[in-house]
Amino acid sequence: PYPLYAELRRRPVARQEDGDYVVSTYREISALLHDPHLSSDAHSLENPGPALAERGDPPAFIGLDPPRHDRLRRMAMRHFGPPHSPTLVNDMRPDLTAVVTDLIENLVGRDQIDIVDDFAYPFPVTVICHLLGVPREDEPRFHRWVEAIVALLDFDPATDPQERLREGTQARKDLRHYLAELLRSRRGRPPGDDLLSRLASDEGPDGRMTDEEIVSTANLLLIAGHETTVNLITNGVLTLLRHPEVLERLRREPEMIIRTVEELLRYEPPVHIIPWRAAYSDLTVAGVTIPKGSRITLMLASGNRDPAYFRDPDRFDPDRRDNRHLGFGSGIHLCFGAPLARLETQIALNGLVRHLENPRLVADPPPYRQSAVLRGPRHLLVR
Ligand code: HEM
Repeated sequence: PYPLYAELRRRPVARQEDGDYVVSTYREISALLHDPHLSSDAHSLENPGPALAERGDPPAFIGLDPPRHDRLRRMAMRHFGPPHSPTLVNDMRPDLTAVVTDLIENLVGRDQIDIVDDFAYPFPVTVICHLLGVPREDEPRFHRWVEAIVALLDFDPATDPQERLREGTQARKDLRHYLAELLRSRRGRPPGDDLLSRLASDEGPDGRMTDEEIVSTANLLLIAGHETTVNLITNGVLTLLRHPEVLERLRREPEMIIRTVEELLRYEPPVHIIPWRAAYSDLTVAGVTIPKGSRITLMLASGNRDPAYFRDPDRFDPDRRDNRHLGFGSGIHLCFGAPLARLETQIALNGLVRHLENPRLVADPPPYRQSAVLRGPRHLLVR
């Protein structure tokens, strides 16, 4: 039931000792996510232009404000499809099903599996490789880079932070270099059905993306779309095993998976917080004035459990109506990959539900990853 979030919600807007603000109630989070005076650009307030160049990596659109954000998002969206009517993603259904079937076939006959390592982890990165057109033989390298980059978000006491930083930074460089090379090899060839060559050959109303912009976008899709999906699938298996009545219904009514995944995004979302936004001007929220220049953390997962918005929020209820959860954020940065993440998780969970026989958790609760932003088990052993 997340008692800390219940405690936080007693003061919807709280000022921390370091001067940052934390917002934990549904209506206030939602209002802020739609407020044009809130910036996502890490450098917007201190030193706009040169600061970006100094950091090396050109930013991807998750860290930009309009109009730069909108132009890049629109150009990528032309191929990926808008959040509520996906195009490229719909065509991916057979491919996603084939990847899941393959993964499950490898598990047949095993007494015990780790849902994370054996299933949830390899699935989304394989899918993104297919989406971008990464050759199959390069996939293992891709997996390793993504792992090292995402570990930068973790506070895993078992690993050395300096070492993690070194490996993550190197992996970032290697991945960008790889994507730039892949893009170069696509130039001049007729576009295939992968996203990278579609972006490279595109000349739409917004003009062309530069090579750097394409590499940043591909990089963003990979980083934003991998561990999030891993955690949604794993949180999903855990929640279903804790609610056997829902699992049984799913076996009989597979189409119920659509509502079940939405409820999972509310009840056990992978992204618990948006670590910061910056106030472009003084803002008044729930009677509190947040001064211009402040940093604001939005507690999405707490908003999802807010009883002032959701009836009986601590109940996992796939039949819930009008489930406007914050699992994918909201406003102009609403998750770009939501249609893909939904479809992946629906296919993954339905595949597992059909195949697991009398499943039991080896440990409940399982060990969790130590992350500032993401929540999900590090391992989930199922017999
Ligand atoms: C943005 C969650 C999967 C690509 C976001 C945001 C959230 C989120 C909360 C908003 C961040 C913000 O406002 O700063 C999730 C969850 C996922 C998932 C829970 C899986 C269950 C994916 C996938 C992709 C993706 C599969 C790509 C293939 C993006 C991108 C953005 C984004 C590009 C930035 C959008 C923008 O700035 O306009 N996601 N995501 N996500 N997500 Fe996802």
